[in-house]
Amino acid sequence: MQYSMKYIFGFAAALCFVCSILISSANVGLRERQEINKKLDKQKSVLQAAWLVKPGEKIDRARVEELFKNVRPRVVDLATGKVLEEVDAEAFDEEKAPEIPAPVNNAGIREIKEQVKIYEIMDGDKVSMFVLPIVGKGLWSTMHGFLALDADTRTIRGLTYYDQAETPGLGGEVVNPKWKALWPGRLAYDDSWNVKIAVIKGPAGSVEENPHAVDGLSGASLTSRGVTNMLQFWLGENGFAPFLKSFRESGRA
Ligand SMILES: Cc1cc2nc3c(=O)[nH]c(=O)nc-3n(C[C@H](O)[C@H](O)[C@H](O)COP(=O)(O)O)c2cc1C
Repeated sequence: MQYSMKYIFGFAAALCFVCSILISSANVGLRERQEINKKLDKQKSVLQAAWLVKPGEKIDRARVEELFKNVRPRVVDLATGKVLEEVDAEAFDEEKAPEIPAPVNNAGIREIKEQVKIYEIMDGDKVSMFVLPIVGKGLWSTMHGFLALDADTRTIRGLTYYDQAETPGLGGEVVNPKWKALWPGRLAYDDSWNVKIAVIKGPAGSVEENPHAVDGLSGASLTSRGVTNMLQFWLGENGFAPFLKSFRESGRA
């Protein structure tokens, strides 16, 4: 059967129109579910950083929600270190928070948010841990993760990355459970509260032997350096140091 050019173009246009309607409806219809899943993923990462969920452990939404009953999100003003009690931290959308140019740094950070959402892991009415968001450049990618610090504000309880695109097997080993297991117990600061933790080249030894260092990722010195640089930034004066100091001075540490 022969079709006219008019028919062929008309048919193609109608097909494109129908498909675009279907795709747009699916996108709009699934947006809410995507938002829920995004939030759930972030909550899982917070729990993983704090080792409340072990690497590789599968947990469903109900379990995340149950564990999150002991997690209190807070919004912190980075410059002053003050917790903004008047801000509803549950509803706070960090992506919409105002940005300012970042001070000169080695972590490849150009802008920082003025207010940042952090998580307090509660033991009854006492804070047992903080989970702090960290971000910075690796070799190929901007790496997003969480650092869990004990309420003493010095002892690291865990480190996890939930978004990075380093090379699998090299820099991508930042997500290897064996490497992540090297972090708990290491010390972020020295006795004068200078940031001391660093990923070194080669093996660092045990927590007792070398509390301020973690094994470098083999064949991935640049990603390793990226991790050190972002921890230097986020634990420093332009990051969470004012907040952690203010917590210590409140006598709750
Ligand atoms: C294909 C390819 C991918 C690489 N990916 C990474 C990476 O993700 N992170 C990293 O630090 N180095 C990566 N490297 C290696 C770096 O170029 C560099 O050689 C390395 O960081 C030096 O580390 P080393 O001193 O531990 O050998 C990659 C190299 C190649 C050829």
